[in-house]
Formats: sequence, structure tokens, C-alpha cells
Amino acid sequence: MKISLSEGTWDKSTADIVALAVPSGKTKLNRALGRIEAVTGRGSIKPLASDERFAGKVAQTLKVAAAGKAKSRWLLLVGVGDEEDAGKIAWSLGHSLALAARAQKTGAVELPLVDVETVRAATQGLVAGAYRYTEYKSDKEAAATLSSAVIVGAPKARRGLTAAIRAGQAVAESVNFARDLVNRPPNDLNPVTLARAASSESRKLGLSCRVWNKARIQKEGMNLLLAVNKGSAIEPRVIHVVYKPARPKKKVVFVGKGLTFDAGGLCIKPAGAMVDMKCDMAGAATTLGIVFAAARLKLPVEVHAVIGSTENMTGAKAYRPGDVYKSLEGKTVEVINTDAEGRLVLADVLTWAVRKLKPDFMIDHATLTGACLVALGPWRAALYTDDDKLASKYLDASEGEGESFWRLPLDSDLRSTLKSPIADLKHVGGRFGGSITAALFLKEFVGDTTWMHLDIAGPAFVDRPHGRLPKGGTGFGVATGVRFLEGIR
Ligand code: BES
Ligand code: MN
Ligand code: ZN
Repeated sequence: MKISLSEGTWDKSTADIVALAVPSGKTKLNRALGRIEAVTGRGSIKPLASDERFAGKVAQTLKVAAAGKAKSRWLLLVGVGDEEDAGKIAWSLGHSLALAARAQKTGAVELPLVDVETVRAATQGLVAGAYRYTEYKSDKEAAATLSSAVIVGAPKARRGLTAAIRAGQAVAESVNFARDLVNRPPNDLNPVTLARAASSESRKLGLSCRVWNKARIQKEGMNLLLAVNKGSAIEPRVIHVVYKPARPKKKVVFVGKGLTFDAGGLCIKPAGAMVDMKCDMAGAATTLGIVFAAARLKLPVEVHAVIGSTENMTGAKAYRPGDVYKSLEGKTVEVINTDAEGRLVLADVLTWAVRKLKPDFMIDHATLTGACLVALGPWRAALYTDDDKLASKYLDASEGEGESFWRLPLDSDLRSTLKSPIADLKHVGGRFGGSITAALFLKEFVGDTTWMHLDIAGPAFVDRPHGRLPKGGTGFGVATGVRFLEGIR
């Protein structure tokens, strides 16, 4: 989508459709609608709104023919409730506009105030809202949306605004890249093609991308990753993308769970739980989205994405409950439930990253546990770290990007549930605190590194749109990760 700035007010815009923020609450609502009626000279907007039950609530929209003195064909009234944050309002204006536009090709938004933050937010909303996954649809036109948008009341010459558009595009396109990967069907996206997608995007951005095949992974001794792969007919991959600017302030390593399909292995999932398990590589997708956005934004931070990728299947060679494997770290692990495969894959990758990359911060994203959805609901991710400062920085970043996280404890009391009678560790704890015990298992493999684990099992993939999350793959975590990196000094 082409996004540009223009001076002047919305009523002079010749775009096909113009988005306007409308607050809720009788007085504010009436005042806003009254103003639109006055400017357009079209007196029927209030009765229409009340007829359509449009009350300016968050996410409510009403499309009306502009008519009157307005130059555009359509107006889109976007409810913003009692939101006062101009950035949030800007984001939802852009997002609602791109969602609502169908036959309309050109759009315009008027922001509550124009600055670098609101212009970037509107851009992120526009590009994220325009996202459709049409790869496997014959009729691509059915998903048409805006091809260009104008932010009105924003002089081109104003410092930083054009750069703000470029930044917003960089972030939102990286979010959409992650969504595309998650939405790709698992017969199309497997560890091999995931690695190819990572390489080809890396090449476009001039980044280094190393890919390890099975033989190389064997040589490294990543036996836990290899155990999970045993039941699959497709080779595993480890993918390592590096963005390294000239004088990096810090080195941040993102690790991603890249299960391109999780059937559960021999502890097979029931059909209903398996149907969306192409989403089990969402951590990998988020991790890639973050490193690509960091490169596009030329952030002064060294960023690595390290991904362990395999399927978890039931082939004749599949790993079994009761098996014991020696991890790369050296600890032996007794397999309890083959459906708890993610933590095994991550354990070896985390070990490798700690040893070889020596990061300042290591952050993993993983669709790790159903228990996380039980605890926090489907739209919020769990955040685990022993580092209070890192937690609070990350939570601040997420707040700005409208992504929901909640910090849960790395409760050492539960560590005893990972004791095995025959090996150093078992990889599944008891019935309670399943998301926490998964995190505690990972902690065994990070040494002294400052580490954070993000369980994104809920918000990475949703069955209906919710807030900033579109149906299907959401790209959850990319925007927050980038915002966090931007704050590093
Ligand atoms: N990939 C799943 C977790 C998941 C569940 C992701 C729902 C997205 C939506 C993970 O590999 C898994 O199967 N976890 C098991 C662990 C259990 C066997 C200890 C779970 O949560 O049931
Ligand atoms: Mn599983
Ligand atoms: Zn899984």
C-alpha cells in the first residue's frame, strides 16, 4: 500500500473513503457527529448512526455515503470509545479503514494529532489491516482493499513524518510476513521450505542466513531436536539469521519454536486439537519478523534469530514416552509425553545460542502450552523471566503496541516436578502449572544468560478476529519485539 501525507482537512480529500474517529458517550458522540454533519452539510448522520446502533464504541464502524460538501464518496465512522491515547486512535483509524475498504481503492485518515508516533501508528494500522491471506484462493479480488492511503492534515515538510511512514511500513510488513508463514498450510510449509523462506527474505535484506540440515544437526549433538524429528518423513532444520549493524549497542538473540506441524507424536492429539497445529511454528515466524524489521529499520542493535524446526509426527521411528536422550547441554532427559515436543527442540537451540552467541539478552517465542490458554485466555501471552528490568521494559513495549502479555512466575517450588527416577530430568511436570513447568524446563538450558520466555500459544493463532489480532496467524509479538529493540541504549 502506498501511504502519503497531505495538508488540508478531510472534507477536501478526494479519496474514495475517509476514516474519522468518533468517541462514545452521549455528549461526545453527538458533538462528533454534529461536526461531521456541519462540515458535510449532510444532516442525516445522527439519525443514521442511532438507527444502526453506532455508539462510537471501540471497534464499531459505520460506513456512510459522504454526499453533501465532502469530496470523497464514503465516510467511515470509527468508534474509539473513551480512548485518549492519540497513537491508539491513529492505529485503529488506519486499521478500520483498511479492513472496511472493499471496492474503494484510495483512502484517507484524519488523525487526532499529527506527530511521528501517530503517523507511524496509523501506518502500522493501515498495513496490518490490509493483510489478507489469498495464496490459495482462486478469487483474489474478493479480498481486495486499499491500494493507497493519505494521512491528511500532515504537511510533507514536517520533520520525521516521512520516516515515520517508512518505519510503520517496515514493522507492519514484518508482522504480515510472520502471518503469511503461519497461515501457509503444513504440506507447503515444512522445515525445509521454512528455511528457504528465511533465506530468501534474508538475501533481499542483505542478511546472513545459515541453515543446518540433519547431518549437521547430528554433528552438533542436538539430540532432543533430533528425537522429536524421528517420527517425521521430513528432515529438521536449524535456521540462523543475523542482522549486525556497524557499532551495535547490545546483542539480542531471539529463539523460535518452529514446529511446522504438531500432531503430538505417539501421544497423538485428538482431531479437534490437531486441526490448527500448522500454527506451531509461530514462534519461528515472530522471531524472523523481528530480525527482518530490525534490519529494515537499521536499528543499532545486533539481532539474531535462531530457529529449531521439525514436524512432530507418528512415523515408525517416532520417539516414545520412556525414551531417554542426552541433550546438547549434557543433561539426560526422560520423555514423558511426546506432545510436549516444543521444550525439547528449544532446549538444544537455547543451549547452542548461549554457548556460541553469548547474548546480552536471549528471548524465546513459542506456542508452547495449552495450559497457557487455560491460564490467560486465548489473546494474551505469558512472559517469564527472572530479570525484573527486562520484564518491565518488555511489558512497556507491549503496551505501546497493543499486544497483551502477562508476567507469570518461574516458580522454583515446581522444579521438583521435573525430577526423573532414571534421568537427570523429565520434560513434563505434574497436572498443575503446565505453562510454568514448561518454562522451568527451558530454564535448565540457559545457564547464566539473561533470558526471557514468551509462551504465545494463545495469541499467535486465533479462530476469530479480536482487537489487533486477525483471524488465523496473527504475527503476535513482532511489534513488541521491535519496540523493545528500539528502546535499547
Ligand atoms: N503446540 C502445543 C501447544 C499449543 C496448544 C499451541 C494449543 C497452540 C494451541 C504443544 O506442543 C503441546 O502439545 N503441549 C502440550 C503439553 C503437554 C503434553 C504437557 C499441551 O499443552 O497439551
Ligand atoms: Mn505438542
Ligand atoms: Zn507443539
